[in-house]
Order: sequence, then C-alpha cells, then structure tokens
Amino acid sequence: MMKIMPNRMDYGFQKYQQEFEEKALSVLRSGWYVLGNEVKTFEERFAEYTGASYCVGLASGLDALWIGCKMLGIGPGDEVIVQANTYIASVMGISMNGATPIFTEPDEYFQIDADKIEEKITEKTKAIMVVHLYGHVADMDKIVSLCKKYNLKLIEDCAQSHGATYKGKMTGTFGDVGCFSFYPSKNLGAFGDAGALVTNDPKIAEETRIYRNYGSEKRYYNKVVGANSRLDELQAGLLNVRLSHMDEITEERKRLCANYTNKLCNPSIYLPKERENTSTVWHQYVIRCDRREELIAYLNEKQIGTIIHYPIPPHLSEAYQYLGHKKGEFPITENYADTVLSIPLYNGMTEEEQQYVIDAINAFK
Ligand SMILES: Cc1ncc(COP(=O)(O)O)c(C=O)c1O
Repeated sequence: MMKIMPNRMDYGFQKYQQEFEEKALSVLRSGWYVLGNEVKTFEERFAEYTGASYCVGLASGLDALWIGCKMLGIGPGDEVIVQANTYIASVMGISMNGATPIFTEPDEYFQIDADKIEEKITEKTKAIMVVHLYGHVADMDKIVSLCKKYNLKLIEDCAQSHGATYKGKMTGTFGDVGCFSFYPSKNLGAFGDAGALVTNDPKIAEETRIYRNYGSEKRYYNKVVGANSRLDELQAGLLNVRLSHMDEITEERKRLCANYTNKLCNPSIYLPKERENTSTVWHQYVIRCDRREELIAYLNEKQIGTIIHYPIPPHLSEAYQYLGHKKGEFPITENYADTVLSIPLYNGMTEEEQQYVIDAINAFK
C-alpha cells in the first residue's frame, strides 16, 4: 500500500537541492548573517515579483500582519473587519495592536464575502483585512470600492497566496499593505520562519524598515520603540533560490489541482471552485464532506494523510473567548470548520501518488 503524506517539504528541497546547498554554504561562509545583501536582493526581487513598489523582509507572517496593522495606525478602540474562517494569525495581527476583530462570513470560494462587509462597518471601523485563503482570491473590486467609499485601510493577508492574481494583478498590491509568510509549508517557503510586507507607500516601507530593527535606522540611534523582526540572511538567501523557480512551482500546483478537479468524482464530496477573473495558486486543495470524520478514517486506513484547515474558527477558540462570541453566530464559517478537508498536495507529487488519492476518494461510499 502506498503511503501519502498531506505535504512533502522534502520533495520541494530535493528538486533544487544543489542550489539550496550552495546558497546556504555561501551565506554561512560570508560571515554576515543579519540584514545584508541576501535580504536586500530578496526585497528587491519580491517587490518586483508582486508588482509592489517596496518589500520589507520580516521574521514571520504574523509579524507582517501585526506590524502592518500598526504602521496603518490601527490601535485600541479601532475595529478591523476580517473573515471568520481564517487561520488565527490573521486575527492576532489585529488584536495584538489592541484593536477589535469584527468577524464576517465567507463566500462559496472560502473568501471574505464582499456582500456582507458593509453591514459590519461602524464609526469605529478602521480597516478591512482580506485573507486570500488556500491560495484563492477575494472579490477585490468590491472590497477596494468599499474601502474608498468609507475611507478604510486595506490589509491583505497573503500568507497562502503568493502569486495569485485578480484580473491579472497580484494579491498583496490592492491595499495599503500585503502581508506574506514564508513558513516552510507555504508555496514560497523558507527553511524556518520568515515573512515580508509589501506596500506602494514609501513612508510605510521606511517606517517598517525602522520598526523591525528596534526602531533604529542608524545603529544605536533609536527613533521609536520597535521590535526585533528581521529576516535573516540564510532564510533570505534560500528564498532567493526558491523565488527564482516560483513560476514553475505555481504551475505545477495548478496542474495538480486541475487534475484533482477533473478526476475527483464522488457525490458525497464538494470540490473547490476558482473565482472568475482570478488565478488561484492552490496553497491547499480543500474539499468538503458532510461525513468528514468517516472520510478521514477511511483515508487513514489507506495511509492517506489529510489536514483540517481549520477545525476551530478563531471566534470559538479559547484565545478569543473574551470577545464573547457564541456557537451558531457564524453558521457558514462553522459549517466549513466541520466539513473542510485538505487532501494531499505538494510540489513533486507523482502521478501515481495523486492517482492513488483520487481512486481512494472516488471509491468512498
Ligand atoms: C492565513 C495565514 N495568515 C498568517 C499566517 C502566519 O504566518 P507565520 O506562521 O509565518 O507567522 C499563516 C501561516 O502560518 C496563515 O496561513
């Protein structure tokens, strides 16, 4: 029997092993490990890749979110609208600044439902945070026009959407800040924690650059009380290698997911859909099944691993009890939490491996 893991980060390493190893050695031998040429090069190249004017490397995706919110002046007393079905880091990016996350329901593509945002806007609303979840893309025309109408800031959580586009424009470049994670399992993954913020605003870029380095531009001259959130040279160097193959990486994921969509066929299972005018980069292939626990057990027996992204929506998590939300408040989100399942997907997945998964799912009764 084949054994299929939900993800294989080792395959992603092996594909470009020589380049990664050479780069790692060159950084180790350089004697320069924090804020050097690799970071500078990565920032330039990632800005170019996304089409943003500036990129600032940071220590993680969560840092990009909370520092990004902070740079927009989001703080106590402010409300930020965010979809309820997200990874908890999005919400923490808001609440770490003392602001209040205001949850709203997702649409059929798992993204923030643009038609349900307006009813959540109050005098306290400062921003909308869009999370391009699973590599899909939110309905950006509607969201951008709402931000203009109500003079709101726009934050994009692109931790799962490197390279995804809406009408040809990259996610991360629609609003004030685009926040990226390069956690190893992401489409553009490092070999440890790493993140970045992209923006078209030179002031935000400069202030973020200062903030990430203890609030200093010049060593030991501190302008503001900042943080230590620097992207290190080793991660930046390895990211430079991976970024140079990003188109190939994305194309392979698209091909694998098109194959799933074409071949999966089981009346008990709903397949994910791609929004018109968008290009999904398939961070995950998320199916839905009302008998999910049975399906998981069945696939486990066949040695096929799956993951639930995510079983507990933030509003029901222990961490956010203090917001006072109750079960039943966000029925679509809660239904997704009870039915979603990410099936195996990774760069380097072989035809045989994928066919084994497809046959197993199609035979589920
Ligand atoms: C949607 C989303 N936002 C934010 C993050 C946080 O990124 P990091 O783990 O790099 O802090 C992640 C991933 O972990 C994520 O999936």
